[in-house]
Amino acid sequence: MRLLFVLLVLISVPISSVPVSSEYIPEYLSVQKNRKILVAHRGASSYAPEHTLAAYRLALSQGADYVEQDLQISKDGVLVCLHDLTLERTTDVERVFPDRARTESNGRRRWYVSDFTLEELKRLDAGAWFDEKFRGERIPTFQEALDVVRGRAGIYPETKGPEVYGSRGFDMERLVLEFLKKNKLDRPGADPRTPVIIQSFSAESLKKMAFELKTRLPLVFLINSDPGGKWLTAAGLKDIKKFAAGIGPAKNLIENDPDLVKRAHASGLTVTPYTFRSAATGKYRDVREEMHQFLYTYGVDALFTDNPDQFPRER
Ligand code: G3P
Ligand code: CA
Repeated sequence: MRLLFVLLVLISVPISSVPVSSEYIPEYLSVQKNRKILVAHRGASSYAPEHTLAAYRLALSQGADYVEQDLQISKDGVLVCLHDLTLERTTDVERVFPDRARTESNGRRRWYVSDFTLEELKRLDAGAWFDEKFRGERIPTFQEALDVVRGRAGIYPETKGPEVYGSRGFDMERLVLEFLKKNKLDRPGADPRTPVIIQSFSAESLKKMAFELKTRLPLVFLINSDPGGKWLTAAGLKDIKKFAAGIGPAKNLIENDPDLVKRAHASGLTVTPYTFRSAATGKYRDVREEMHQFLYTYGVDALFTDNPDQFPRER
């Protein structure tokens, strides 16, 4: 009888009564009800080399709710964590494999991740470029990243360059979802201590995961700019809602148009801007003040930061 009553109450709550104010943070995003969410951008990457296990561990110790992984694919089809499609910015690939670059039309030499097997990638140093004390850090596989983060925070993988990998015979979206399935993380709430959100700058990549591969995991659409007004109008946001649960706009898009947060919330989308870092705070005194403004004045739900230790938990 009691169960029947609860069911009747639930059925009678119209969808439209779900609050969409700036204080509403949906269950999927929230680690704790209505708590603002801290996503460690490439780990605690102001203090440790981005996308190393050292950066991920530091982010966890600094209270990250989620740790971000930008994903690339090795020649032998393994998902690894690295921001760039190429290796030369954050590893010593030029020294270890001097003859393995592709030369672009402008003469620039590039060492693509997908030209190297995992065994070769593991020979590279991914820490010393940042600081000598991190020498010996390696490019982590997605599995190694998950093993460090699991049970302590959520993961927030990004499909990087999915169309480039597609042109090289890889199916990045399928690889990511198969990886999550293998790790029993392919359903929302599968491991409450390790929520999963997938992000991409590619609407096509997200649509493929939502409609073709039918994931139910929350997807966040990253938006760097919106020159023709395609996405950030009320109509554009409504379109995004068809395939994503939230938007991840560059922070200047909100700074220049704070109403964007209200429009997105009105469309049922969460808002997670990027990237807040102590090295670039614009008009703000410091990164804590900047994050505070976005979280508590502009009303974003979450944000990506290189400085997890500066995230203002209180209003
Ligand atoms: O994914 C959020 C933010 O990381 C997007 O920028 O270039 O650092 O991946 P990027
Ligand atoms: Ca990213």
